[in-house]
Amino acid sequence: MRTWPVDRVSFGGDYNPEQWPQELWPADVALMQEAGVNFATVGVFAWSWLEPEPGRFEMGWLDQVLDLLQEGDIAVDLATGTASPPPWFSHRYPDTLPVDVDGRTLWPGGRQAWCPSSPVFTEHALRLVEQLATRYHDHPALAMWHVSNEYACHNLPCYCDVSAAAFRTWLTARYHSIEALNKAWGTAFWSQRYSSFDEVLPPRRTPTIGNPTHALDFARFGSDTLLDQFTAERDLLHRLSPGVPVTTNFMTSDHFRLLDYHKWGSEQDVVSTDHYLMGALDDPEAELSFTADLTRGVAGGRPWLLIEHSTSAVNWQPVNVAKAPGQMLRNSLAHVARGADTLGFFQWRASRAGAEKFHSALLPHAGTDTRLWREVCELGAVSARLGEVVGSRVESQVAILWDYQAGWACEQPAHPSGELEYGQVAHDVHAALRALGVTADVVHPDDDLSAYRVVVVPTLYLCSDESAAAVAAAAERGAHVLVTYFSGIVDGNDHIRLGGYPGAFRDLLGVWSEEFLPLRPGRVVALDDDSTGTLWTEHLHADDATVVARYADGPLPGVAALTRRDVGAGAAWYLATRLDPAAMRNLMAELVEEAGATATADVPAGVEAVRRVGEGGSWLFLLNHTDEEVSVPATGYDLIAQHSVDGAARLGPGGSAVLRQA
Ligand code: GAL
Repeated sequence: MRTWPVDRVSFGGDYNPEQWPQELWPADVALMQEAGVNFATVGVFAWSWLEPEPGRFEMGWLDQVLDLLQEGDIAVDLATGTASPPPWFSHRYPDTLPVDVDGRTLWPGGRQAWCPSSPVFTEHALRLVEQLATRYHDHPALAMWHVSNEYACHNLPCYCDVSAAAFRTWLTARYHSIEALNKAWGTAFWSQRYSSFDEVLPPRRTPTIGNPTHALDFARFGSDTLLDQFTAERDLLHRLSPGVPVTTNFMTSDHFRLLDYHKWGSEQDVVSTDHYLMGALDDPEAELSFTADLTRGVAGGRPWLLIEHSTSAVNWQPVNVAKAPGQMLRNSLAHVARGADTLGFFQWRASRAGAEKFHSALLPHAGTDTRLWREVCELGAVSARLGEVVGSRVESQVAILWDYQAGWACEQPAHPSGELEYGQVAHDVHAALRALGVTADVVHPDDDLSAYRVVVVPTLYLCSDESAAAVAAAAERGAHVLVTYFSGIVDGNDHIRLGGYPGAFRDLLGVWSEEFLPLRPGRVVALDDDSTGTLWTEHLHADDATVVARYADGPLPGVAALTRRDVGAGAAWYLATRLDPAAMRNLMAELVEEAGATATADVPAGVEAVRRVGEGGSWLFLLNHTDEEVSVPATGYDLIAQHSVDGAARLGPGGSAVLRQA
């Protein structure tokens, strides 16, 4: 057994040797060494190779793979292989297949075709884990256990009868009595009152809109159920393979919000995640930065592992955009800048067959005489030079609050506007701060807010009294708090807080709203400070706050759109429309300045600056996302170019620098 390498930023990826002839394996290891790979995640989808028939385990091939990797000094992140059961499993136990909202079975033939609530699945998964842990717990290549893969990616929510029974058990534990459930779900509405838990079903397709609290609880149940699957494997691994860290790879990108990663984060020995650029976004790299900051929040501020990303194009978007020369390095450094200590890729060798054969890899189909391979080798070399950064923390004076459960509630149907999505304005704020060179932590409302100078509460639709009190306390203490539209509207049961919106934050902000007037798609409203808003307006009364800007036209000319109230040593701002990007930047610049927060560096447009700080020093990451050469005032030693920078860091088009500073 070895420890996860800490003398460098670890570099590697998923290795699926079962897809290739055995004769190729030694060449794989030699090429890994050439590229500077120092870890491999092995066996993620290998269940049907490890247990080809029920109860018959074949692990000789994996012995060989691990021995080869050990000889090559490559640490192994050993998967438990439980992400996808073999065909014999679903053939034998058809009741373990997941079922969608319309009652359609999701059949085997892809991957992850198992019901999250299935005890039969758990039993078989744990049997495999036991075999692996018993056999490999003291293998010298083993450095980490990788449980399952991207929980929930394809099999949540499941609406089958097994899930229905498990949901009722979960509800009984939560509410104890059916009266309590009726109250929490507001079942006086539309004759939905239950007389027994036996009558409760998953929120399957209904003739019209279902009960939103029912749906919210089902989302909570789904996340908890899969977390139980994870902890069952983790606990067995801790028992049979003590001392080896256990993780499962999250999907913290914003297009995936099925699990409450704040609950999951504290159950990991180390948090790991996957990230893929979304080609359809206006600025995919802004989303990358947000997701990295969120992952750090999920990890409690500690360094985390980027266990998968792509060297170039993926295969599952409508158009799979290839990365430009240099972009893989810049994207990788963006993750490291924001707290990643490991750079993993899907996958080592591009597949020859199967659904992912057009997905990029470290080793492309065309082989080593390729631009991609040369960039892979360069990244391997750079990763090795970044050892001193490992273990250091990211500095931030700004918090953006994020809550998966608020998101689930916010995106229920039959709300004022189907155009409003949870996360929209959080990303707007984050992008504005990033453009200003200001780093934000994306954290849960219950996290400690005491160190932040700016606290942003972006569309926190659902909010507990405690969270609202913590936000108010931050303002009292001196923080500048910005609350945006559709926050604090409901309690934890998704019941409206009466007396005017935004209920939970009304007193703090000194404003109240009597009605929402959302805008049609494409409709722009002017504000009297020359900025514009889209998506949202509301009939706001600023009884105890200063009006900073008003709507100049639209449905509510003259009504307050942006307000500010002095609170204790700080201030509380309310924003009642979705500002255009320039206006959002100006607003964040004002807040940052008033709050006495500082930018990491004075950067030109399109350049990202983030600082990591540790006992051994401080490292300034500068990433040039533009096609021009830029110059940033800075002094230090550039770990990438390996030379000193005195006064000005010059970054070529798309170039990056990591400066060690005093
Ligand atoms: C991830 C998954 C990998 C691979 C990759 C392709 O979701 O964990 O196994 O499928 O996506 O982008």
